[in-house]
Amino acid sequence: MALPWWQSAVVYQIYPRSFADANGDGVGDLRGIAGRLDHLAWLGVDAVWLSPIFRSPMADYGYDVADYRDVDPLFGTIDDLDHLLSELHSRGMRLLLDLVPNHTSSQHPWFAESRSSRASPKRDWYYWRDGGGDGEPPNNWTAAFTGKRAWTFDEGTGQWYLHSFLPEQPDLNWGNPEVEAAMHDVVRVWLDRGVDGFRIDVVDLIGKDPALPDDPPERVGHPHFLFHDDPRTHDLLRRLRAVIDSYPGERVTVGEISRPPRRVAAYYGDHDELHLAFNFAPLLAPWDADTWHTMIDVTRSTLDPVDAWPTWVLGNHDQQRPRTRYGTEGRARAAAVLLLTLRGTPFLYAGDELGLEDAIVAGDQVLDPGGRDGCRAPIPWEIDPPHGWNGAATWLPFPPHADVRSAEAQRPDPASMLWLHRDLLTARRGSDALRTGSFAWLDGADGVLAFERASRADRRVVVVSFVDEPRRVAHQGTIEVSSAAGRSGQPFDGSLLPDEAVVLAV
Ligand code: NOJ
Repeated sequence: MALPWWQSAVVYQIYPRSFADANGDGVGDLRGIAGRLDHLAWLGVDAVWLSPIFRSPMADYGYDVADYRDVDPLFGTIDDLDHLLSELHSRGMRLLLDLVPNHTSSQHPWFAESRSSRASPKRDWYYWRDGGGDGEPPNNWTAAFTGKRAWTFDEGTGQWYLHSFLPEQPDLNWGNPEVEAAMHDVVRVWLDRGVDGFRIDVVDLIGKDPALPDDPPERVGHPHFLFHDDPRTHDLLRRLRAVIDSYPGERVTVGEISRPPRRVAAYYGDHDELHLAFNFAPLLAPWDADTWHTMIDVTRSTLDPVDAWPTWVLGNHDQQRPRTRYGTEGRARAAAVLLLTLRGTPFLYAGDELGLEDAIVAGDQVLDPGGRDGCRAPIPWEIDPPHGWNGAATWLPFPPHADVRSAEAQRPDPASMLWLHRDLLTARRGSDALRTGSFAWLDGADGVLAFERASRADRRVVVVSFVDEPRRVAHQGTIEVSSAAGRSGQPFDGSLLPDEAVVLAV
């Protein structure tokens, strides 16, 4: 049986504010994205995930949705989205939207209605509770970003509402069947329009015990969402999956689960909850062979027994970019080889293929309440300022070395980070082993990991050095891709350059 497309795909995450700007207001938009699809086709990605483009007051840059059925005017119109979708499809690429089900904006009409009176028919669409006495909130949960209590008191109706994130992001009550039905309708709207699936924001947070029991005292002060784990979420996911799977064309869900790997596996269900869940371990792991060995083993040992397909994430809009985390280009290049050759679906964050570092955002330029501006800086397309962003000043400064790391500077240079990514994606396309084959460890060396990917007669050996000194391994073959410049196509005799990672045809 043919495997679903998303098992062999590489998904490219676009942060729409910072990708490309067609209307010259300094903020990226959908027409801007549509104008850069040749870059994606040339690179060779299979699908695009757009961070939220829905109507939003932007308190959390789109993760506070005020209308799930409309595009924010900052990004364009529904027609622009249709245009982008058809342009992607005509190039054989798919589109995932970002569904934010746990909370709306406080400016969503649902919340305005809910807040208007205790008797509102939508009162129970959110979590309204009486205080705990002495002006205390209803429970001790801590909100993300602010580090304060996850509750805000509403003078008008004399009750508190729950917000696991900003006060501008009230939590929806999925325990109310009307909320669930309303969100299923939202999902259908976009599936009917032809989108190929959804990345689902903090999806493990939607099921809640209506008693909202206190967190244990030692967790107070840490965001509640990091610990939340309620069995009700699984029922909700099964019903959501049924909606998704009722559509033809292998629509897909990838869930954001901020839980340890052992718990993440549970959210795949028995092939009846999420299709995929993000594996964030690599985002947080230091560049160290033993750490990666353990992390890969934990991923395998938790997902393989339940036949859950892994994912790999090195960068996103919430974390420092890999080039910044690892500190050198050599390491970032070796990490790209890992991302694109481990068994599972890789998620590549736009700009990481250019080796961008986080932008340096001065104190008075800071915008994001979560301190994540650096990894959200505009993509430099052209060498010369304003780097393909013609018009108003960009909403955030460019990353360092925007000229030499621009797409234009790298495109003619086969030794560039951009070409490394393209070469890896080309290698994947040509190899069942790399896309969907089995995984087995091979002998490495001190600070070096080696593994085999195999599918019938197709075999690749991947060797990754985590150290900036030469190393020797016992493997030989032809270098299909090397993270070091100029080595592709050469025979490999077991000698690795410092920081080098190679894909060997054997
Ligand atoms: C996770 C998203 O990735 C992040 O950007 C957002 O702030 C929170 N969820 C809240 O929606």
